[in-house]
Parts: sequence; C-alpha cells; structure tokens
Amino acid sequence: MDFKSKLNRTKIPEHIAIIMDGNGRWAKKQGYKRTFGHKNGAVAVEKTIEAAVEIGLKYITLYAFSTENWKRPQTEVNIIMSLLVQTIKKQTVKLSENNIKLEVIGDIKKLSKKVKLALNGIIDSTKNNTGLTLILALNYGSRQEIIEAVKSITEEVKSGKLETENINENIISEHLFTSEYPDPELLIRTSGEYRISNFLLWQIAYTELYFPNVLWPDFEKENLYEAIYNYQQRNRRFGNIG
Ligand code: IPE
Ligand code: IPE
Ligand code: MG
Repeated sequence: MDFKSKLNRTKIPEHIAIIMDGNGRWAKKQGYKRTFGHKNGAVAVEKTIEAAVEIGLKYITLYAFSTENWKRPQTEVNIIMSLLVQTIKKQTVKLSENNIKLEVIGDIKKLSKKVKLALNGIIDSTKNNTGLTLILALNYGSRQEIIEAVKSITEEVKSGKLETENINENIISEHLFTSEYPDPELLIRTSGEYRISNFLLWQIAYTELYFPNVLWPDFEKENLYEAIYNYQQRNRRFGNIG
C-alpha cells in the first residue's frame, strides 16, 4: 500500500510525537538479547527522521528514555545510552545536510558526561537550522515536568511577578519543556500497547492517538505515512459539534 501518495499535502500535521516501543520484544522474538532490539531501533529512528523530512513535518518528538526506564538493569541502561551517543555522532553531518535542528526535553542533568557532551555539541551545531525540529525526550517524565512547572510558577507568585488569578493554560504551557512547540496533533505508540507511559500528559489533551501493531524496529516510512493518512480521515471536534 502506498500511503505517501495518498496523503493530503495541505493537511500534514505540524507536530508528531512517537512512543518508540517494542525493541526488547522484537529481539526476543528472534532469540536475541534485548539490546539487539535497541540497535535496530536506532535504524528505525533514522528512517523515521528521513520520512519526516520528506513530507515536511515541522516538529517530531521521539520518546527515547523515560524517567522510569532507570529501573531497568544497569547493563541495558548503559547500552541504550551508548547507542544514543553513537547514533547522535553518526547523524551529525546528516542532520545539518537536511537542515534539522536537534533539541531535547527532559532532565538531562542526570545523564552521563559523555552523553551530555555529544548532545550539547550537536544541539549547538544545529541550532540555526530551520527545517525539521527533532525533539528527543530523554530522561523525560511528564509528571516530573508538571511538578517543575508548579514549582517555578509558585516561585513567581511568591516573588510578586505573577498573580494567582492570572494562572491559565498558557502560563502552564510556558513552564513546560515544550514551551516553544505546538502541541502534537498526532501521537503514535508502536508495539500494540495502549498506554501513554508518562509522556506529554498536558500536551496531548486533544491529540489524536494511533497505535499501530508493529514493534519499533520494524517501523518503516510507510508506517509513518499510514499514521498520517489515518489522522487525515479523522474529525477533530475539540468539544464542539464538528
Ligand atoms: C522501547 O523498547 C525502548 C525504550 C524504552 C528505551 P522497549 O525496550 O521498551 O521494548 P519492549 O517494550 O520491552 O519490547
Ligand atoms: C515508554 O516505553 C518509554 C519509551 C519508549 C522511551 P516503556 O517500555 O518504558 O513503557 P512501559 O513500561 O511499557 O509502560
Ligand atoms: Mg517497552
């Protein structure tokens, strides 16, 4: 099926968020270790970014590591992190060639020096690019993000910079990691799990959800186009009567 050619080019979402799930199961199914799945997951990331550039997405947010993923065995965490550094380094030239800007949401203070160095290098070298903004959610947890927002809003009220009665949706949004981005129109979670796992809770209030039954390393460009095609058939009412 060729979903790319069926897309309505005037109705491409601006922002798509993806929960890239199923690496471990993909590997286990073939008798390999979970880490083999993470390696192949990185390949799917590359293809997805290419697809996003091809159809002119403005923002793509990829959930790469959650605040809860630290519970995993240390060896697995280490491999995810080193794959991250490798992938970032490998992509440096390609990102700039494609005018992609890399940004990160999440608490990156807790990441290792090596990861931070690689990340900051490429964030800096791509900061003037004007095409796709690629947002990596790393050590990201939506509840933690909301807690931090509440804390800083409280401080602003205490210092007299903000009145309690002026707190509204915009004020909350402005205090989240995602303050510079529009809310995603479409959220995709692979692997056949139907949950959000602490991702963008505030931001997805009216996002369309899509759950393809494919494990992340098997995710192809066509899967992204199919998700967008599916999104384009929907009637978004936002509480109105449509
Ligand atoms: C997603 O795949 C990658 C990360 C969470 C880092 P998983 O590692 O969760 O794979 P499954 O869900 O166990 O198959
Ligand atoms: C969500 O996947 C986090 C990422 C994809 C980075 P998980 O595999 O961690 O989620 P749960 O544990 O199945 O909810
Ligand atoms: Mg998982």
